[in-house]
Amino acid sequence: MMNDLYNQVLKLLRPSSVAVIGASRDPEKIGHQVVRNLIRSGFPREKIYPINPRAYEILGLRCYSSILEVPDKVDLVVIVVPARIVPKVLEEAGKKGVEAVAIITSGFKEVGNVEAELQLVRIARKYGFRILGPNIVGICDTIRGVNASFCQDLPRPGNIAFITQSGALAIALVGWTRLKGIGLSDLVSIGNKADLNEIDFIDFFGRDPYTRVISAYLEGVTEGRRFIEVAREVSKKKPIIILKAGKAERTIGAIRSHTGTLAGSDAAYDAAFKQAGVLRAPTFIELFDWALALAKAELPRGENTVILTNGGGAGVMATDAAEEWGIKLMDIPPDLKEKLRKHMPPFGSTFNPIDITGMAGREWYKGAMKELLLDPRIHSIVVLYCHTAITDPNDIADAILEAIRETDVQKTVVASFIGGEEVMEACEKLTKNNVPCYESPEKAISALGILYKYKKHREKLSKQTMVHLNVDKKQAYKIIKRALNEGRYSLTPSEAAGVASAYGIPVLEKILTNSKEEAVKAAEKIGYPVVLEIESPQIIHKTDVGGIILNIKNKDELLKAYDEIVVNIRNKAPDAEIRGVIVRKMVEKGKEVIIGMHRDPIFGPLVMFGSGGILVELIKDVAFRVAPLSVEEAYDMIKETKAYTILKGFRGEKPTDIDSIVDTLLRISKLASDFEEISDIDINPFFVYSENKGGIAIDIKILLERKSDH
Ligand code: ACO
Repeated sequence: MMNDLYNQVLKLLRPSSVAVIGASRDPEKIGHQVVRNLIRSGFPREKIYPINPRAYEILGLRCYSSILEVPDKVDLVVIVVPARIVPKVLEEAGKKGVEAVAIITSGFKEVGNVEAELQLVRIARKYGFRILGPNIVGICDTIRGVNASFCQDLPRPGNIAFITQSGALAIALVGWTRLKGIGLSDLVSIGNKADLNEIDFIDFFGRDPYTRVISAYLEGVTEGRRFIEVAREVSKKKPIIILKAGKAERTIGAIRSHTGTLAGSDAAYDAAFKQAGVLRAPTFIELFDWALALAKAELPRGENTVILTNGGGAGVMATDAAEEWGIKLMDIPPDLKEKLRKHMPPFGSTFNPIDITGMAGREWYKGAMKELLLDPRIHSIVVLYCHTAITDPNDIADAILEAIRETDVQKTVVASFIGGEEVMEACEKLTKNNVPCYESPEKAISALGILYKYKKHREKLSKQTMVHLNVDKKQAYKIIKRALNEGRYSLTPSEAAGVASAYGIPVLEKILTNSKEEAVKAAEKIGYPVVLEIESPQIIHKTDVGGIILNIKNKDELLKAYDEIVVNIRNKAPDAEIRGVIVRKMVEKGKEVIIGMHRDPIFGPLVMFGSGGILVELIKDVAFRVAPLSVEEAYDMIKETKAYTILKGFRGEKPTDIDSIVDTLLRISKLASDFEEISDIDINPFFVYSENKGGIAIDIKILLERKSDH
C-alpha cells in the first residue's frame, strides 16, 4: 500500500509542475541554470514557474514575483535564494499548499547554522510539506525527464537509483555513468538531510516500479534502528548497495571495555549493513559495477559456474578471483566435454575454465555458449573474450546474444571483453542486452560474486528466528539502580555476576568476603581450588594490579594469597576503594572466547563475539551485530571469526558447545535491549566446554551510561 511519504517523494522526484524560487536572469547563476536544465530535460515549459520579484521573464518563461501568484497547482518547489531569504519563501510555499520542496541553498548546518536549519523544518511541519536538503545539487529523474538541478545533463535512463550525500559527487557521476553506459532512474542529492533522509528514499525506491537496484553514497546514517528495519524489508525485494565513507574512529573515553575499544563506529555500520542485507561497496567503481550486474543479470538459480574463454591467462585470472569470492567452478562432466569438443580445436581445453583458444570465432563461441546454456547442471556462465587480430569483438558479442536468444534459457551470464577501444561497442551491446560486460575478468567475477551474495542475503533475511527468553528483569534492575544511586558507572564483579545470572547467563558463583575468616568459610563452601579477586569499583583490569590470584588449593595458600592481594592493591592502586575480596571456584579451563556489548550512538547495542583472553585487542578476531539478535545472526557472527575453526574442533580436537555461546549472545542482546542504562558489557573470558557441556562466564564487566537523567 502506498503511503503519504511515497506520494510526497513522488511529487518531489517526478513532479508535474515545478516552481523555481530564485530563478535568476544571470546565466552564470545557479538559479538560472536550474530553469535552463529543466527546459533542456524536456520538462513542459508551461509547467515551469520561475519566481523572481525583479524579473518579468527568464529564458522565455513568464516570471512571478511570489509563488503565491502562480495560478496553478505546484508539485515541486526548488529554492535557490540565499540562506537568509529561505525562511520567507518557504512560508510562502507553505501558504501555497505545496507538498515537496528542494532547497539547493547552502549555509545551514554544514557551516554551524543549526538553528537556521531547524527553523526550516519547523516551517515544513507547520504546513505539512517535506524538505529535501538544504545544501543539495537538486534532483535528476529520468523516468519523467526532470533535471531540477545544476547538473549539466540528466544521466542516461535506467533502473538504478543513486542517493548521494555528496553533491559534487552527484555532478561528477552524471558524466561518469554516461561514459560507462550506466543508466539511472534517479539521482538524488540529500545534502544536510534536515528532513528527508536516505531511509525515506530507500523506502521510496523500494516501492518504485521503475527502480531495480538502489545505490547510495553515505557518510553517515541518521536513524540507525529505522535504517535497519527499512533496509531489511527493501533488501528482500531489491538490492541496496552502499558506499559508506568516513571510517575514522571515535575518540576514546577514559573507561573503556574491550568491546568498546574493538568496536569503532565502522564496526556498527558493517554489522547493521549485514543485518539489513545491504551490500557494502569499497569504492564507487565497485558500486556501479555491482549495480549494473544486479540491474541486468538474472540471479543464479544454483551454485555451478562455468568460465568460457578464448585466452588461458584470462581464464586463470578469473579462476583466482572466483576462489576469492567463494564461487564454485563446476567440474565439467564427460558427456558435456564431448559436446564442447565440437566447438574448439584439438588443443583447446574442456576443463573449467573452458578454453576454446585464440582461434575461436563467432561459430565456436555461439556453439559452446549454447551447450552451456542448455545444460541444466550449469547455473552461471562467465564468458571472457581477449581481443585478437582474427576476430571482430562485435561478432563475438552477437554470437553470445544469439546463443541466449535461440536457446531461450534464463541463466546468469556475465562477460568480460578485454582490449582497447575496439571492444567497447561490443561490450556495451552485451550490457544493453542484459549480459553485464566488464573490462577485466576480475570485475566480471566480482559482478557474479555479488549476484550470489545478494541471493544469499535475501534467503537469510527471510528466515530469522527470534526466541523468547525467560529473564529476571526486576532483579537486574535492582542491582543497576543501586549502582546509579550511588553515582557509580561500573558494577562491581559480584554485581555484574548478579545481573548476568538474572538474565540466565551461566556465571561463576562469587562470594564477597570482608575478612580472612569469611574467605576461608566461603572457600570451604565452594570447595578448593578457588580464586581470590579484589572487589573495587575503581579497578577494571584486575590482572594489571595483581588483584587476582588463581588456583588456591588449601587454607594455608588462601591465607597467604589474601595478604598478597591486599599488599598488591595498596602498592599498585593505593587510591582504590576496597569493598572486599571475592572467593570463587577455580574451574576447568575451556576454550576462551569473548562476548561483549558496546552501545553505539547511531545503531544502539552492538553485540560482539570473538577470540578471548588477554590479547583480544591485539588479535582482533571479532564479529559484531546490532541487538536484538536472531538465532541465525548469532550463529553467523560466530562463523565469521577464526575462533569458529577452533570451536568446531581443530585438528582432531572435540567440537565445543557452540550453542552455549549462541544462548549467551542472545541473552546479552536482550539485557542490552532491556537496559539503556548499560553502555558496555565484557565477558572475558567465557569458557566453552565440549559439546553439550555448556560454557561459563568467568569474568564479567558491566559499565553504565554516564547520563544525569537516570
Ligand atoms: N524570491 C525569489 N527570487 C528572489 C528573491 C525572492 N524573495 N529575492 C531575490 N531573488 C532573486 C535575485 O534577485 C536573484 O535573481 P537575479 O540574479 O535575476 O537578480 C536570484 O533570486 C538569486 O539570488 P542571488 O542573491 O543573486 O543569489 P545567488 O544566485 O548569488 O546565490 C544560492 C544563491 C545559489 C542559493 C547561494 O546562496 C548558495 O547557496 N550557493 C551554494 C549552492 C550549493 O552549492 N549547494 C550545494 C550543492 S552540493 C555541492 O557541494 C556541489
